Amino acid sequence: MMVAGPQQPETQTSCHQRRRAHELTEIGRVDAVTLNADSLLWRWAGDLRIAFEGGTAGLLQTMHPAIGYALIEHSNFFEDPVDRVFRSLPGILGTVYDGPDAATTGTQVRDYHRDIKGHMPDGTRYHALNPETYWWAHATFQRMVDRVARYWDSYRLTDAQWEQLYDEGCEWYRRYGVSDSVVPADRRAFDAEFDRYCRDVLEPNPASDYLIDVINRVAIPDMSTSPHLPAHPRLRPLADRLLPTWPVRAALAVPMRLVIFGGLPAGVRDRFGIAWSAADETAYRSVRSAIRVAWHLVPASLKWHDAARRG
Ligand code: HEM
Repeated sequence: MMVAGPQQPETQTSCHQRRRAHELTEIGRVDAVTLNADSLLWRWAGDLRIAFEGGTAGLLQTMHPAIGYALIEHSNFFEDPVDRVFRSLPGILGTVYDGPDAATTGTQVRDYHRDIKGHMPDGTRYHALNPETYWWAHATFQRMVDRVARYWDSYRLTDAQWEQLYDEGCEWYRRYGVSDSVVPADRRAFDAEFDRYCRDVLEPNPASDYLIDVINRVAIPDMSTSPHLPAHPRLRPLADRLLPTWPVRAALAVPMRLVIFGGLPAGVRDRFGIAWSAADETAYRSVRSAIRVAWHLVPASLKWHDAARRG
């Protein structure tokens, strides 16, 4: 199984940075790629509604053959397919929110992956720090944040804000210290590249098959066993009491399937044989609308992931 590599737009990226810096200077936002409390990424990345998009991001990562096989060979993926995601969150969000320490957090995350490498069954080598592979994992997180802002909240970003959020996502990526040679120049190029990966790079593999099977089960796994479950400390006791019980795990299976599969591009659902009806689409959109409305009622103290609260 070959992993197609993207074209390498090295010169495009640096030109883009200069052009963007010039444009931003003109409209008085010279520091638009500084990540701080005024940045859009700070507003959206640690919003707890990433829970509605994180499963889709994790599944899209697993569909990349290099990541799928890396998970099989380097983690306890089959015993616990969700703990990996929970365990990774503090490092990923810390790269955004750790202020002066964020770049250190980013390089620690990168270095964690130095030995995550091997061969796929067809002999092709993979390495987590191959920029094309590492960028894909990051791209799914950027898309996750975008989708929280676009679909799960009633605020409407302007075109300039969408572009700013994209640039801030690129700055997030740079903090890992992995080559940014494959980073698309702007949001439009990002969308095109994302589509190309979905079409040409993602391939069913044993890890993605397994994850899809878990998501289709009648009850979700007992997530309370994960010490890294990102529940607010005040809600943790409730989660610990309810999540192990079968009726609750069964009741959560339907919405969880809806939000994870609903967040996938339609073409990816087709390629991976994921059944999705018009009724599913209607139900999925209703869940999003309900959250958009109800979110105003959630107390501010419960709306943010730990790393974001600290930031
Ligand atoms: C933006 C890109 C990525 C980020 C931010 C990221 C983040 C992380 C973090 C924070 C951990 C540590 C979890 C812990 O402390 O236990 C981790 C573990 C891991 N990552 Fe990544 N990762 C990325 C890309 C990749 C890629 C491209 C691969 C594979 C090709 C990969 C494979 C793994 C594996 C196998 C583990 C070990 C999981 C385990 O111990 O069960 N990661 N990742």
